[in-house]
Amino acid sequence: MHFNRRSLFGATAAAAGTAFAGREAEAKLPKGTDVEPRGTNGILERLPTLDLESNEEFLMSFRMWVNGPLNRAAMRRANEIIKAKGRDPKAEMDMAEAVELLKDDPTIAVRNHTWSRCQQLTFNNLRREFHGSYDAYMTEMEAADNAGPGTLELNPDMKMPDYARHEYHTQPGGYVGDPFAGHMYHYLTNNFNEGRNDQDELHRRMANALVLPADGKLKRVLDLGCGIGRQTIALKQRFPDAEVWGIDFGGPLVRYAHVRAVDMGVDVNFAQRLGEDSKFPDNHFDVITSYIIHHEVPAEISRKILKEVARILRPGGHYYPIDFYTTGSQPPRDPYGKLRSWVSHRWVHEPWMLQYGVLDFEGAARDAGLEVGKAGTSGFGGRPNTILTKPA
Ligand SMILES: C[S@@+](CC[C@H](N)C(=O)[O-])C[C@H]1O[C@@H](n2cnc3c(N)ncnc32)[C@H](O)[C@@H]1O
Repeated sequence: MHFNRRSLFGATAAAAGTAFAGREAEAKLPKGTDVEPRGTNGILERLPTLDLESNEEFLMSFRMWVNGPLNRAAMRRANEIIKAKGRDPKAEMDMAEAVELLKDDPTIAVRNHTWSRCQQLTFNNLRREFHGSYDAYMTEMEAADNAGPGTLELNPDMKMPDYARHEYHTQPGGYVGDPFAGHMYHYLTNNFNEGRNDQDELHRRMANALVLPADGKLKRVLDLGCGIGRQTIALKQRFPDAEVWGIDFGGPLVRYAHVRAVDMGVDVNFAQRLGEDSKFPDNHFDVITSYIIHHEVPAEISRKILKEVARILRPGGHYYPIDFYTTGSQPPRDPYGKLRSWVSHRWVHEPWMLQYGVLDFEGAARDAGLEVGKAGTSGFGGRPNTILTKPA
C-alpha cells in the first residue's frame, strides 16, 4: 500500500475521531474552479503549499507556547510586581494604573509582543498566498456566487458604518476591506483555536446545544454576524428541514461562507446585511444565534441589534447571543487581567471590547423587550449561556 503525506493526514483525522470521514458530499463547485491543490483533511481544505502549511503549524505551536508557559510566567511577574507595591494581585485595579505598573516589565512585554507578532505573521503569510493566487481564488468565488443549493446576496453599495471599518484582530483590510477576508479569517482562527476547530467542532457543539422554543416549532433560523458561516452550516445540519440564514456586514466573509456551503452541498442562505438593519419581516425567525459579535460593535449598536432581534423573532422564539460575558464569566478585575484587556483593545485591535465589558447586556435585552434566562451551553467552558426569549 502506498502512503503519501495526504493519505497519512486523512488517516490521522479519522483516527482522531473527527465527525467527518471526508467531505459530506462530493464537491459541488462548478467544474474546474475548486482550488484545493492538496486536497482536504475532513472538511478543511489544506493550505495549498507544504511551505505555507509548515509555517502555519510552526506559528500555531508558537502561539500555544505563548498562551501557556509564557503567559503563566508573565502572570507570575505581574503578581510579584503588584505585591512589591504592597497591593493585592487579586483585587480590582483601575486599568490605567495596571497598565502603568505592568507594561514595561520584560517578561510581560515579551508575552504581549510575541502574541501580536504571531498574529501578524500568520495574517501576512495568508494574505501573501491568497493575493499571490488572486485569479484562482477569485474565479472560485465568482463561479460559486450563483451556484446552489443555497443562495448568496451581496450588497456592495450598502453604506458601511464607520464602526465596521477597523482592522479587527490586526486582519489586513478587516472584515470589509479585502476580497479574501473570509479566507484569511478562516485559517487565522483555526490557528487561534490551536487546531481544535479545524472541523468546525466548536460551532457544531454550539449548534447542537441550542434549546428549542417551548412549543418545539422551528421553521426558520438566523445566524447573525455569521462570518464564514461555520455555525450557520452546523445549524442546517442539525435542522435539515428549517430555512437557515446567515447575515454579516462583511461581503467577503459571506461570499467565502457561500463557497464553503456550495462545496459541502449544504442548503443555506447568506446575505451581506447589518445585524441592526436585517431587512427581515417582523416575527420571522424561531431561533436566532450569534457568536462573538457583541464585543465587536459599539455598545449603542449592541442595543440596536437587540431591538432588531426583538422585532424579527417570533413570540416565544429564542435568541442565543454567545459572547465572552453571556457565559457566566465577567470582565477581568485584577491588574494582570486589566492589562490583558488593554493589550487586546490597543494592540490586537479590539476597538469596541472595552465598551462591551461595561455594557449591562441583560439590562439592554430587557429594554429591547426580551426576557432573560439561562440555557444550553456555550463554546466557553460548557457553562449555561444567556438565552433571550420574545414574550409569547
Ligand atoms: C468574531 S467574528 C465571528 C464570526 C462568526 N460568528 C464565527 O463564529 O466565526 C464577528 C463577526 O460579526 C460580524 N459583525 C459584527 N457586527 C456586525 C453587525 N452589526 N452586523 C452584521 N455583522 C456584524 C463581523 O463581520 C464578523 O464576521
